[in-house]
Amino acid sequence: MSETVKFSYGGKDFELPIIEGTENEKAIDIAKLRAQTGLITIDPGFKNTGSTTSSITFLDGELGILRYRGYNIEELAEKSTFLEVAYLLIYGDLPTQHQYEKFTREITTHTLVHEDIKKILEGFPSNSHPMGVLSSLICSLTAFYPESLDPNRNEDAVNLSIVRLLAKMPTFAAWAFKNEVGHPVNYPDNSLDYCSNFLKMMFALPAEKYDVDPIVAKALDQLLILHADHEQNCSTSTVRIVGSSQASIFASISAGINALWGPLHGGANQAVIEMLEQIKADGGDTKKFLDKAKDKNDPFRLMGFGHRVYKNFDPRAKIIKKAADDVLLKLGVKDPVLEIAKELEYAALNDQYFVERNLYPNVDFYSGIIYRALGIPTDMFTVLFAMGRLPGWIAQWKEMRHNGEPIGRPRQIYTGAVDKHYVSMNKRG
Ligand code: CMC
Repeated sequence: MSETVKFSYGGKDFELPIIEGTENEKAIDIAKLRAQTGLITIDPGFKNTGSTTSSITFLDGELGILRYRGYNIEELAEKSTFLEVAYLLIYGDLPTQHQYEKFTREITTHTLVHEDIKKILEGFPSNSHPMGVLSSLICSLTAFYPESLDPNRNEDAVNLSIVRLLAKMPTFAAWAFKNEVGHPVNYPDNSLDYCSNFLKMMFALPAEKYDVDPIVAKALDQLLILHADHEQNCSTSTVRIVGSSQASIFASISAGINALWGPLHGGANQAVIEMLEQIKADGGDTKKFLDKAKDKNDPFRLMGFGHRVYKNFDPRAKIIKKAADDVLLKLGVKDPVLEIAKELEYAALNDQYFVERNLYPNVDFYSGIIYRALGIPTDMFTVLFAMGRLPGWIAQWKEMRHNGEPIGRPRQIYTGAVDKHYVSMNKRG
């Protein structure tokens, strides 16, 4: 007999099934709770609520394990490429040589975007934050490929949208940056690999020769792998919930980009560097900022610290910290902000407040330092996070549609006024 949970309510006994995942995680299945008891559950921030079953990514917050489709993140970060990982996430297993070549060839041949998209880009003021521009351009694909609005398209048509998304994302990301700095856009160079093409579109200037540094391209590729999926976080849940209304994949991913933007989620990588700069400008007193973060009357938080799921360490942060050291060494960059980051990390890890609350550096704590060393400007950091997270969003969207999940529609407990009666305006006291 499979496990159940028994409880009493209103003088009656109830029994709910327990479901178990392949990594032995257990959950109470409350699908019939309301029908049987009239009750719903309340769980602000979904701290205890699983929204779905999924076979894409496994993470164990206590043990610091992260696996994509069963493969450890450490191994993938060391041996794989971003496009191979994208294939793994989206199609369920690592590609054969033939599948990989076909996949990369398809992505490479769709990097160009419709010329009219330049007109949309030109409508944005210079200085626009590139995340807002990116999400708008991705959403504009619904207009250029209106067939994507059909929820009943066949699998080949969906795959074409997926290829277009992966192919055009670096073009849009680089163009969002060019718009911000007021420079002419560069067109894709299909002789280059995914990251090199992006770097060239982002950094090449009409008047100067630009050669992509392979160290920079490799480091970027690894960062994208580390960000590629992270199960049901804020942006991924957003993608799934928007997609559950059968909105186009382009609209769903655009919504995910907006959800990622906030400083408590992907926007933290930008916020970390701004915080470290602030500490440096203030004389480098890390203790002062640690005290601010602990002060409940001060809204300041130590950016890049803490995680909803990881309560021991973030395995991505471990890899990134080492990569930051390697990249800075290889590129010969000396960044005083790295020293402040290390000092702050050491102080926080030895501080009772942070220890008691299991607050550790997360993926965003050191990624910004690498991005800086690669010459990426601060407000492009979250755009790179979005580029990395794209295959994860796509895989989750695809899984949600494949499983035929119902439209996402949480309930609530109403706490407002009850049964008031309308009084005309001139009679309202
Ligand atoms: N600095 C100071 N105190 C913190 C921090 C922090 N960075 N993070 C959590 N706390 C405290 C919080 O005040 C609370 O204290 P108390 O129990 O006394 O009220 C306790 O720790 C638990 O925090 P919480 O806000 O209930 O935890 P959460 O799971 O809701 O939030 C978080 C997780 C990541 C939003 C939060 O830790 C945070 O705001 N961190 C800084 C922003 C950040 O780095 N975000 C990137 C997350 S990783 C990238 C990604 O996947 O998006």
